[in-house]
Amino acid sequence: MSLITDNPYRKDFPVADQVINGKRLAYLDSAATTLKPKIVIDEMDRYYRSETSNVHRGLYWLSENATTKFESTRDKVASLINSPDRKQVIFTKGTTESINLVAQCYARAFLKEGDEILLSQMEHHSNIVPWQMVAEEKKLTIKVIPINPEGEILQDQYAKLLTPKVKLVSVVYVSNALGTINPVKAMIKKAHAVGAKVFIDAAQAIAHKKVDVQDLDVDFLAFSGHKMFGPTGVGVLYAKEELLNMMPPYQGGGDMIDVVSFEKTTYSNLPHKFEAGTPSISAVIGLGTAVDYINQIGIDKIKQIEDELLEYGTKKLSTIPGLKIYGTAEKKASVISFGIDGIHPHDIASLIDKEGVAIRTGHHCAQPLMKFLCVPATCRASLSLYNNQEDIDQLYKAILKVKTFFES
Ligand code: ALA
Repeated sequence: MSLITDNPYRKDFPVADQVINGKRLAYLDSAATTLKPKIVIDEMDRYYRSETSNVHRGLYWLSENATTKFESTRDKVASLINSPDRKQVIFTKGTTESINLVAQCYARAFLKEGDEILLSQMEHHSNIVPWQMVAEEKKLTIKVIPINPEGEILQDQYAKLLTPKVKLVSVVYVSNALGTINPVKAMIKKAHAVGAKVFIDAAQAIAHKKVDVQDLDVDFLAFSGHKMFGPTGVGVLYAKEELLNMMPPYQGGGDMIDVVSFEKTTYSNLPHKFEAGTPSISAVIGLGTAVDYINQIGIDKIKQIEDELLEYGTKKLSTIPGLKIYGTAEKKASVISFGIDGIHPHDIASLIDKEGVAIRTGHHCAQPLMKFLCVPATCRASLSLYNNQEDIDQLYKAILKVKTFFES
C-alpha cells in the first residue's frame, strides 16, 4: 500500500476532508500554512474552555497548570531542534518577528557603518526588509548572493562575497517559493571562517526535515508554529546563549524584568528577557502538541510522504504541454511552483479554485526572486503530510480544464 494513495494521516486533519462549493477540497497551500491536526485544536480548545489563566503569575492551580504546559512547549521545542539549553528557545509571534528581533537587538546594536550583510536572491521579504531597515539607519551594506536558473545558491559566488567585512549572513533553509533546500551547514561553516554570524530562516524547513541547531552550529534560527501543524501567532527564535546574553531586550514590559524602579530597571534572565507581556498562551500550548504530533509520526516518515508526493506531482504536471516548473534544484522540498504559457497565474488559481483546488498564486513574498525568474507571479502547489495522490490528480485535471477553457 502506498502512503500517498491511502494516506493514514489525512484523517487527523479535520479541514482536509471537506466539500467546498460542491467540490472535494484539495488543499495544496501548506507552505502558506499547514492544516492543524485534531489533537492541536482540542488542546487549544481545552485551554479556553476549562484551563484559561495567565502564565508565570498565579499561585493557584489553573495558572500553575497553564504555566507548566506553556513551559513544557519550550522543552519540547528545545529537544526537537537539539538546543543545548531550553533558555535558548524564545517564543515570538513567528519567523517574521524573530528576524526583526535579531535585526533590532543584534544588527542594530552591534553592527557598524560599512559592515556587510549577505542575503540570497531567493529570500522571503521577511528576510530582506528587517535588515534593510537597520542597514539604512546604521549605514550597513546589503549584498545579494546570486542563484542559478534551477534555483540553487551559487556557492562560488557566495565564497567570493564572504570577506571579513561580512558580519552577518541570513539565508533561508528551504525556499517557500521554489522548494530549494539550501546547503546551510556548509554555508554556516564558510561564514564562520570569516567571522560572520549566520541567521537561518527555517520557516519552511521545520516541518519537512530534521533541524539540529548544534549540528548546524547556527547562531540564530527561526520558525513559525503555523507551518508545522501548530497555530498562528507563535514562533520561535533560537540563538546561541552568548549572543542572547549580550543582546539588549527587544520590548519592555511585564515578565521581562527583574526589578523595576523609576531610577533603574534590571532585566530577567533568558528566555524571559525577550518575552515581554502576556504571550499567546493557547498558541504556545498548541505548538507543544504540534511537536508531539510530529514526534509521534516521525520527521523521516513525514519526509518520505512528501518526497513521494513531490515526485508524483512533478512527473504528472510535467506532462502538461506549456507548463513550466520554477525551481528544479537537486535538493528540493515538496513545493511545485509553475506557470502556463499564455495564461496569467491569477486566472489559473481562480479557475482551479472552482474545481476545489487551493493553491497560492502571486509573488510569494519574494519579489526579487520573481524579478530574477522574469515572471510577475507563479502558481504554487505545496504538499504536506496529509495530501494524497487524489489531490494531485485533482490539480492536474483542473489545470487541463483551464487550458481547454483558454485554448478553445
Ligand atoms: N510565507 C508564506 C508563503 O510562502 C505565507 O505562502
